[in-house]
Amino acid sequence: MPLLIKNGEILTAESVFRGDIYVAEETITRMGRDLEAPPHTEVIDASGQLVFPGFIDPHVHIYLPFMATFAKDTHETASIAALIGGTTTYIEMCCPSRRDDTLEGYQVWKAKAAGKSACDYTFHMSVTKWEDGTEGQLREIVRDGITSFKVFLAYKGFFGVEDGELYSTLALARQLGVTVTAHCENAELVSRLQAKLLAEGKTGPEWHEPSRPESVEAEGTHRFATFLENTNATGYVVHLSCQRALKAALAAKERGVKISVESVLPHFLLDKTYAERPGVEGMKHVMSPPLRDARNHKPLWDGLASGLIDTVGTDHCPFDTEQKLLGQAAFTQIPNGIPGIEERVNLLYTYGVKRGKLNVHRFVDAASTRAAKIFGLFPRKGTIAVGSDADLVIYDPSYRGVVSAKTQHVNNDYNGFEGMQMEGRPSVVTVRGKVQVRDGQFVGERGRGQLLRREPLPPGGSDGR
Ligand code: URP
Ligand code: ZN
Ligand code: ZN
Repeated sequence: MPLLIKNGEILTAESVFRGDIYVAEETITRMGRDLEAPPHTEVIDASGQLVFPGFIDPHVHIYLPFMATFAKDTHETASIAALIGGTTTYIEMCCPSRRDDTLEGYQVWKAKAAGKSACDYTFHMSVTKWEDGTEGQLREIVRDGITSFKVFLAYKGFFGVEDGELYSTLALARQLGVTVTAHCENAELVSRLQAKLLAEGKTGPEWHEPSRPESVEAEGTHRFATFLENTNATGYVVHLSCQRALKAALAAKERGVKISVESVLPHFLLDKTYAERPGVEGMKHVMSPPLRDARNHKPLWDGLASGLIDTVGTDHCPFDTEQKLLGQAAFTQIPNGIPGIEERVNLLYTYGVKRGKLNVHRFVDAASTRAAKIFGLFPRKGTIAVGSDADLVIYDPSYRGVVSAKTQHVNNDYNGFEGMQMEGRPSVVTVRGKVQVRDGQFVGERGRGQLLRREPLPPGGSDGR
């Protein structure tokens, strides 16, 4: 059924306009004032509400075998949680381990999502080893529309690549017009520091951060940037957590390296004292890079406000209390990760826009548009324009609520942001013209989500802007 959204304040990364949006089939076909509704059109009155482009989470884990267990969500649960929170597209990390075949891994991840997600999605393809045959397999995956890779400089022996493998991956990516995303921590230093701390009897979750200090992340970021510089590849740092690493990335940007930066929700809102809470409460807040000293919050918010930090993702990665307790005897066994796919938009709006730290256009840019540009989805996704997919978030800025595990849709028994305020939430969310959410309830079609084919970067690469 056609859709007419009337009298909303339509906000994109660069403009604001009060008016109407008409959607035929799956696409925005008209925008203007006082648009007429043909018969059989569903009319939604958006007076007093904001209308945003569907938000894009550029970094999630849904199917993830990791640290002797599996992340808790399925594409059904994660996509419904995403949509209720205003995210209409996510990019999942496809993460076979070094033991697995790369192409088979891709097929497994693809099969897990097919027909299950209620919102659109794509993948970053992890390159976790480089051996005979890897190049041919990666070429095939890129031909299938996956135009970003992922490398881990951390997680030695499991996901982590050596420098030679990093070089080969970047050289191929440069040839194919693929953007390489990277988890930047020095794997050798992490394992040495972990061993040292455990030998000293330091086994609790509060020792996770000291085992991967800021210097270790700054080194990884600097090394990734140096490899980009010398391969002329295009890169994207994921979940950057601290000022030292940010300085390394910005120094590279300044010398012309094609590098973008993502930080994730927990690093703006939580600090290392959460992981220092006794027992399982601390374990719930163990992720990598770790939650940092709170002095990093201001540089991250400032970097985000000015656009030096390009995007905000979640690194959504739910493990429940029982799984976290796998690390009771040693912090190195605590499954790393925290969910956030449902909260990202509302908490960024509340603690960023409403608290005066983030201009509303930069909010749209960081949570939607910039990711669409960097990862080859723009202008199909990431904006409101004639011809774009009708992924729309009608947002009620007068809503008041509190984050709670009791009301969440993610498949987990706790919420790392428990008790935080929500000053706004989506009242209607559409995916390609179909209403999927109304007032916090999923009312749509399960399995509606499509795997998005993406084009490679133009020759010469781009940082998306
Ligand atoms: O702690 C984290 N970040 N878990 C998920 C895996 C990763 O490093 O992104
Ligand atoms: Zn990571
Ligand atoms: Zn991740």
